[in-house]
Amino acid sequence: MTLSVEELLELKSVTRKIAEEIAQNYRSLISIALSSPHDLASQLNISLNRAERIIDEVREKVGLIPTTADELLEIETKRPTITTMSTNLDGILNGGIPLGMITEFSGSFGSGKTQLCLQLCLTVQLDKSEGGVEGSAYFIDSENTFSAARLAEMANAPDYPLEPKKVLKNIHVAKAFNADHQASLVQQVESLIEEENIRILIVDSIASHFRSEFIGKETLVRRQQLIMQHAQQLQKIAEIGQVAVVVTNQVLANPDAVLSGNIEPALGFAWGHRPAHRIFLRKTRSTARIARIFDSPYLPEREAVFHITPYGIRDQPIGF
Ligand code: GTP
Ligand code: MG
Repeated sequence: MTLSVEELLELKSVTRKIAEEIAQNYRSLISIALSSPHDLASQLNISLNRAERIIDEVREKVGLIPTTADELLEIETKRPTITTMSTNLDGILNGGIPLGMITEFSGSFGSGKTQLCLQLCLTVQLDKSEGGVEGSAYFIDSENTFSAARLAEMANAPDYPLEPKKVLKNIHVAKAFNADHQASLVQQVESLIEEENIRILIVDSIASHFRSEFIGKETLVRRQQLIMQHAQQLQKIAEIGQVAVVVTNQVLANPDAVLSGNIEPALGFAWGHRPAHRIFLRKTRSTARIARIFDSPYLPEREAVFHITPYGIRDQPIGF
């Protein structure tokens, strides 16, 4: 998507020369609305005052203005969700994984985080009546655990209605080699959202590079800063792009975290308040996994049981 000069000239604060400059440098009104006046002024070589007026006008035009609680309630109740293929898990999430927000899955190794992410790459493509939003997926793999073969196996499940060959084409996969690369991949996604109709962005996992590259107390401040920037970028994609952002997170031992069995998700408070939903996954001896919502400003603490089956995530173990 590009901006047309004519469209930009509808703004009172924009001259033809500025409109031409904007059209060359910005892809959408949203990206202008989210710029700082300082950045816009230096990018377009205009005064700070002019940049402020342009941003104010664009923000009003794209609806980034204060709203009322009843309007918010309407948005909340109409918010689309993506099914996990487990009605139990969808149930505790009030329908499924929400668009426009960040959802975090944390848990120890083998708890099912990656399997859930793979499943969501398929269900996002379903139509509304089947629990999807007819969108495509973007998967950032920072642990080198993405498996196309496993995805194909899930896509071939008899109860998954879409053509496996076609759905695999709608799943974009990018490996993140380090924390900086991970952040830049997220930045690149922004420009693909409309072009590729991306409705789910997965980061599996958010934590591993940050944790392995920043070791020791002296790096903590820098690490927290970078995580906050990364989180902010993810939030922007979720809200402005109306994308479901799903991240996985590792867990750490914490003797003080009594309520969660002495473990808690990594990355601390710099990250912790960002996800709208935080779901903790626990293993059992079987294919069953227990999901618990915690720390959510929107949902009560509840638990659900689902299974990791050969077909993917389901309520029941298949073949029993
Ligand atoms: P880490 O990334 O190691 O932290 O774990 P995770 O939470 O991402 O675990 P993952 O989603 O990879 O789940 C692993 C579990 O899923 C395994 O213990 C298996 O029980 C199950 N699983 C993984 N691959 C398959 C598969 O191809 N078929 C079936 N039926 N189950 C699988
Ligand atoms: Mg994993």
